[in-house]
Amino acid sequence: MSGPTIAFLADGPRWDAWREPLSEALREAGLNVRLQFGAEAPSEVDYILYAPVGQRVDFTAFGRAKAVLSLWAGVESIVTDPTLTQPLCRMVDPTLAAGMAEYVVGHVMRHHLGTDSHVLGQDGVWRGHEAPPLASSRTVGILGLGELGTACAMALGPLGFNLLGWSRRPHSIAGVNCLDGREGLEHVLAAADIVVTLLPLTAATENLLGAAEFALMRPGSVIINPGRGGLIDDAALLAALDMNRPGHATLDVFRNEPLPPDHPFWRHPRVTVTPHIAAATRPETAARILVENIRRGEAGEPFLNLVDRGAGY
Ligand code: NDP
Ligand code: OXD
Repeated sequence: MSGPTIAFLADGPRWDAWREPLSEALREAGLNVRLQFGAEAPSEVDYILYAPVGQRVDFTAFGRAKAVLSLWAGVESIVTDPTLTQPLCRMVDPTLAAGMAEYVVGHVMRHHLGTDSHVLGQDGVWRGHEAPPLASSRTVGILGLGELGTACAMALGPLGFNLLGWSRRPHSIAGVNCLDGREGLEHVLAAADIVVTLLPLTAATENLLGAAEFALMRPGSVIINPGRGGLIDDAALLAALDMNRPGHATLDVFRNEPLPPDHPFWRHPRVTVTPHIAAATRPETAARILVENIRRGEAGEPFLNLVDRGAGY
């Protein structure tokens, strides 16, 4: 008897990267399925593996699909899609969290140690009195205390940083002063030397950081955004950088990706652009997460990592 049909709805290079790890994970789980690339015979598809490809998918055609399993952690491109009535699960994978923690620690340490002034500015002047302070005299504020924000806090804490965190609902995380609400956000922005944004892009977080919020930040502070470009009002950030609040922005994600070559962020001396590489979903581990959800769907068990459609993440 043939098992469920799984449709991989993403671009060709992704299919090339995922096909073998998915087949392997399905074999490991003992699942007998038909794995197809693309939307052929949508009415016979049981599970959709999805990454945004540019054009919209009409999910109404997939009448019997039991779930849409996103290859991405961020689901802003489909969460509000009115044709999507099936349960939506997002990507949560320990290697994604490990990659994000490494990216954030690396960029926090760059700014904390003032690494640029030695690596980029060798001018023959011995500035022996300018040793960097210890992490215990710096505060890092993390906006978003989910899978990735918490992983970053767990990596930064042992280095000695004072940690502030902000989320929609109250949290309690050892070693992190967890705040919520507008007042909490304002406190984090005003107190942090380095602010890391790991929020999803939703109606409530779009343009969360604009002129009023940047004005609260400490002079010379740093913002690191591996969350989503839409969290930040670009024009307000450029104006705020001129006022040194913040003094530097390290940005991994943008409203339009790839970031257009003529975008002012590329040329700004106080902006570092990285090309959405903070944390990659690695098929070798993530395929097992997707397959576990298919196994659960077939066994009638609850799905992991279900998106709250009302909250938007
Ligand atoms: P989670 O859903 O696990 O966590 C999201 C966090 O944001 C939660 O703490 C949540 O609060 C908080 N949050 C959501 N809405 C609000 C709000 N309105 N006000 C305050 N806090 C809010 O997501 P992940 O940690 O897995 O991922 C975060 C984002 O990182 C993704 O959505 C994606 O955009 C981005 N990302 C970027 C990558 C890159 O390479 N640059 C790679 C992967 C993801 P609460 O805990 O109360 O629910
Ligand atoms: C994701 C991302 O959401 O790569 O997974 O940004």
